[in-house]
Amino acid sequence: MCGIVGYIGDKKAFPIIINGLKRLEYRGYDSAGIALVNEETLTYKCKGKVSDLENFVKGKNINGNIGMGHTRWATHGEPNDVNAHPQISQNGYFTIIHNGIIENYSRLKKKLIDRGYKFESDTDTEVLANLIEYIYLKGKVNAEIAVRLALTKVIGAYGLVITCKEEKDKIIAARKGSPLVIGVGKGEYFLASDATPIVEHTKSVIYLNDDDVAILKKDELILKTISNNRLTPKIQKIDLEIGKIDKNGFEHFMLKEIFEQPRAINDTFRGRVNVDFSTIHLGGLYNVIPKLADAKRIIIIGCGTSWHAGLVGEYLFEDLARIPVEVEYASEFRYRKPIINSDDIIIAISQSGETADTLAAIKLAKEAGATVLGICNVVGSSIPRYTDAGVYTHAGPEIGVASTKAFTAQVTVLTMMALVLAEKRNTLTEKDKLKLIKELTEIPGIIEKILKNSEDYKKIAELYKDASNFLYLGRGYLFPVALEGALKLKEISYIHAEGYPAAEMKHGPIALIDQNMPVVVIATKDKSYEKIVSNIQEVKARNGIVIAVVSEGDTVIKSMADHVLEIPDTYEALSPLTTVIPLQLLSYYIAVMRGCNVDQPRNLAKSVTVE
Ligand code: F6R
Repeated sequence: MCGIVGYIGDKKAFPIIINGLKRLEYRGYDSAGIALVNEETLTYKCKGKVSDLENFVKGKNINGNIGMGHTRWATHGEPNDVNAHPQISQNGYFTIIHNGIIENYSRLKKKLIDRGYKFESDTDTEVLANLIEYIYLKGKVNAEIAVRLALTKVIGAYGLVITCKEEKDKIIAARKGSPLVIGVGKGEYFLASDATPIVEHTKSVIYLNDDDVAILKKDELILKTISNNRLTPKIQKIDLEIGKIDKNGFEHFMLKEIFEQPRAINDTFRGRVNVDFSTIHLGGLYNVIPKLADAKRIIIIGCGTSWHAGLVGEYLFEDLARIPVEVEYASEFRYRKPIINSDDIIIAISQSGETADTLAAIKLAKEAGATVLGICNVVGSSIPRYTDAGVYTHAGPEIGVASTKAFTAQVTVLTMMALVLAEKRNTLTEKDKLKLIKELTEIPGIIEKILKNSEDYKKIAELYKDASNFLYLGRGYLFPVALEGALKLKEISYIHAEGYPAAEMKHGPIALIDQNMPVVVIATKDKSYEKIVSNIQEVKARNGIVIAVVSEGDTVIKSMADHVLEIPDTYEALSPLTTVIPLQLLSYYIAVMRGCNVDQPRNLAKSVTVE
């Protein structure tokens, strides 16, 4: 949430910062702003997107070799020009951009008001700017000390970029809870919330840790803790290609990412699965596999789509490896005094690796002595660094706010983990294990086939794009897919949608069904097939409209549903990987036909770094 970019060097800062903001716009798009250090610091900001900011600065002075930029997802204060970042301290000494939340801002604000400070915006960030300035002027200290002292008084999360008008040769950056990466160039440094704005300039990066403060001049980097202990910067090489963060000819990132799933799944199992020897090797878990195999209980935590992947994980671990699993929303888990035993295994799932609630839940579980594993997409993000061990999904950067390829890559990892554990625990026959491993490697090809039928999805989207409500039903492994289908539709098209276990329908939601209610039923051939056929009949008996995702060649459901979307059959345990594709496509086309901005849905942002 909120994207921040900084630059210091000899080049023109403006284009570097604007391009960086465009790459980070998925993190928030309520307002955008930029500050360029010159004789006077030039600050331009406005409500709206980065493109609005570009229009706003047309004809204005955009010189400067040092600067910062911000794209906002509003927390404190409505999205408007005044609340946009950068925020400037009352007497103009400090200019600052911020990603995160200062939780004790109202107390700090009151103290500053008592000392004569006046505030223009409703933001917590302006409070921090004024606090730094107050300490700077009152304590007659330099900018770095003022920043560090101010941060000792702050409760909350921040990724910060700060300049001081009396120390024009430097940028100060700090991190706690919100990600910040430094790009190391020759005679220049870059700063950003993630590596995507940096990668076109340099592949050498430093990931800041919590409580780190960096003082950057164009040819010097000093890294220390808030309490002034000097640190040695750890420079890492990133393996991120610029092509992976462009649309590559697709109209939207979401569509590109839906179509990338065969590649993403393939990259996620490549080098880990060996069909010839019927083995799976997960290097990141090597040391914890014995403990995992003996676990009395696994608790999976995540948010949103990652939580849905966790639900699929529950079916996989219990079905294939016979280990009891609980799946928890990270935000609930962290606040409800969960009973965590030291022999519990916690698996945290997150695309971004920065979700605040998931991170907090991980810290809680670690404090209770549990072993915490991560399934994460963004290399170098916080969750892989806080967990004991884990597995990366190799989906590549996911820019569309609605998660698609991250979900299927997460489910691929969970499937591999369940198969590894099934082998260790002897809960699957060699023959069944081989069948599943082999078919897992065939899933990318099956998805390719499903993706060829886009026209079918467009036709259905055209018919139901004006519906006000949708119901999604599934059973067993396909229940989490129903939840995911409903989430995809509501978040990008703003149509209300609910996912339900199909059998639960008659305990309430059936009352909603009438001739206007499209009901998407995921009804491929599995052990609940007969049951779900009955559920479809129940919907039809109440005049509901049935759109069914069925196995190729199904005639039974075809004779009763209004529309069928046929997909190739797979083993039940692998069916979430294929059945979710039609639901992603359907949501995408409905949202496009309704004129929605699918990559940047209203009120949302990717990477939820506030709780
Ligand atoms: C939905 C979506 C969100 C995320 C959730 C968790 O399409 O993208 O629900 O899944 O915010 O994010 P991560 O996986 O980054 O922890």
